[in-house]
Amino acid sequence: MASRRLSTLLSRSLSFPSASAFLGWKYGVERGIQRFSTAAAVEELVSPGVEVKYTQHIINGKFVDSASGKTFPTLDPRTEEVITHVAEGEAEDINRAVAAARKAFDEGPWPKMSAYERSRIMLKFADLVEKHTDELATLETWDNGKPYEQAAKSELPMIVRLFHYYAGWADKIHGLTVPADGPHHVQTLHEPIGVAGQIIPWNFPLAMFAWKVGPALATGNTVVLKTAEQTPLTALYAGKLFHEAGLPPGVLNIVSGYGPTAGAALASHMEVDKLAFTGSTDTGKIVLELAAKSNLKPVTLELGGKSPFIICDDANIDRAVEDAHFALFFNQGQCCCAGSRTYVHERIYDEFVEKAKARAMRRVVGDPFKKGVEQGPQIDSEQFEKVLRYIRSGKESGATLECGGDRIGSKGYFIQPTIFSDVKEDMLIAQDEIFGPVQCVLKFKDIDEVIKRANNTHYGLAAGVYTSDIDKANTLARGLRAGTVWINCYDVFDATIPFGGYKMSGIGREKGVYSLNNYLQVKAVVTPLKNPAWI
Ligand code: NAI
Ligand code: MG
Repeated sequence: MASRRLSTLLSRSLSFPSASAFLGWKYGVERGIQRFSTAAAVEELVSPGVEVKYTQHIINGKFVDSASGKTFPTLDPRTEEVITHVAEGEAEDINRAVAAARKAFDEGPWPKMSAYERSRIMLKFADLVEKHTDELATLETWDNGKPYEQAAKSELPMIVRLFHYYAGWADKIHGLTVPADGPHHVQTLHEPIGVAGQIIPWNFPLAMFAWKVGPALATGNTVVLKTAEQTPLTALYAGKLFHEAGLPPGVLNIVSGYGPTAGAALASHMEVDKLAFTGSTDTGKIVLELAAKSNLKPVTLELGGKSPFIICDDANIDRAVEDAHFALFFNQGQCCCAGSRTYVHERIYDEFVEKAKARAMRRVVGDPFKKGVEQGPQIDSEQFEKVLRYIRSGKESGATLECGGDRIGSKGYFIQPTIFSDVKEDMLIAQDEIFGPVQCVLKFKDIDEVIKRANNTHYGLAAGVYTSDIDKANTLARGLRAGTVWINCYDVFDATIPFGGYKMSGIGREKGVYSLNNYLQVKAVVTPLKNPAWI
C-alpha cells in the first residue's frame, strides 16, 4: 500500500481527503492501561494527495540542480519511506547562492527600491501563502509529521500575519537627527547589513522561514537560506511564491542540504554579512565559531531550552493541567521552548499528577492528516531513538513512569505520550533537552526555592507560571532568567512578541521590532554647519 502511495500521489491533484478517510491511533484508557489500536494503521495511511513540485535549489530566481548533481531523500516520518529526492547543496552551491545574493544586494534593485514597493511585494507574498495554505500545510505535515490541523489553522495564519507585520515595518525604519556638541549636522542612516545567511531547523520549517526571512527582507537585505535536511519541501514552495509575488532574482536564495557541508559553508562564507541560526546549542557553538573565524559576521542564535512550568498551589488546577500538557506535548514535544520541567507545589502535586496522567492518556496519537489527531510521529530515526533513550534513562534513574514509555507500532516514529513523576534535578531527564513527548514532573515547596531550582540550568529560553496571586506572578516573572515568561498561558506567539534566550539558549531576539536591528547597520553622517548659530 505504502509503496503504491507515491506513484498514485504524483498523479493526483489536491483533494484533501475527508477526516474519515484516515486511520490513526486512538488512545483508549481502560482500567488505567493504555491501549493503542495500532494494528494495520500504518498500512492504511492515506496519501497526502499533493504533488511535490519543487525539489531543486532556488538560486538567482531560478530552480537549479546541485553543482555536483547529487540529491538526498526526504522521508515521511509516518512510514519512514522516501517522499522524494531533493537537490543536495554543498559548498559550491552555497558559493553560487551567495554570489547571487551579493550581486542582488550590490547591484540589484531590492535595497534601493522604495520601502513601500518592498512592502507591497511582501504583502503580495503573504496573500499567496494564504491562498496556498492547503498545499503548504499538507507538505509541512507530510515532511515533518505535525498535525495537519495545527499547520493549516495555526501555523500558516501566523506566517501570513508575520509577513503583514514586517511588510508594515518596511517604510517605518529610519534614523535620527543627533544633537552633537559642535557645529555639525549629524544624522544616522539605518541601512541593510547586506547578505544574510540563515540556517533553520526542522521542527517549524515554515515558521522559521518566516521569522528569518520576514525581517531580513523588510530591511532591504538579500538572503541565502539553508533549510534543515529533514524538511526541505515547504521553503522551496514558499520561495516559488515569493518570486511569483515579484521578488527580484537573487534576493531570496534557498539551498537544501546537510549541516556540516552546506550549513558550515554558509556560516563561514566571507561574503555573508550576517548569520541567523536556529537549532541545537551544540551546533550554535559551531556556527558562531565558524562566523568568528571567517569574517566576524554578527550572529543571532535561537537554541535549546529546558523551560520550567511552575504551578503554584493557588492555580486553577484544571487549566494548569491542560496548559502544562500543551506546553510539553505540542508539536510532538519538539519545541525549543517546550515546558519540559513541570514544577508543581507539594500541596496540589498528587492531584496534578493524576489529572496530567489522565490528560496524557487521552491524547490522540496517529496519522497527522487525520482530523482530531493531536500528535504525529517524531521527525526522524535520530530523534526517535534519542527520545527513547531518555525514556530508558528516566526509568533507570528511579523516576516514576506514570504513563507511556514506549513506541507505538513498529513503523513510523510514533511515541506514546509519557509522564515521569518524582523527577529529581540531578536526573538526566531533568537536565537535558529531550525534544519529545516526555513530561517530567517535579515537586516544590516555596517560591524562592522554585526560582532557584528553575534557574539552575544553562538554558534560559522560556518559562510558564500558573498562579492566581498577582504578587507571586510578578515575583516569578522577574526572578526567572528566561527570554519569555508566560503567566497563566503558554506558547502564545505573535509577530509582535520578541523571542529569544538567556544564557545558552541563544543570542539576540527574533520577531517584533527587536528583530529589525539584527538586519540593520547604523551609519553616522556628519556635515559641518557653516553658521554655528544654527546649531
Ligand atoms: P541541529 O542544530 O544540528 O540542526 C539545525 C540546523 O543546523 C539544520 O539546518 C542543520 O542542517 C544545521 N547544521 C547542523 N550542523 C551544522 C554545522 N556543522 N554547520 C552549520 N549548520 C549545521 O539540530 P538537529 O541535529 O536537527 O537536532 C539535534 C537536537 O537539537 C534536537 O534533539 C533538539 O534537542 C535540538 N533542536 C533544537 C531546535 C530549536 O528549535 N531550538 C530545533 C531543532 C533541534
Ligand atoms: Mg545535528
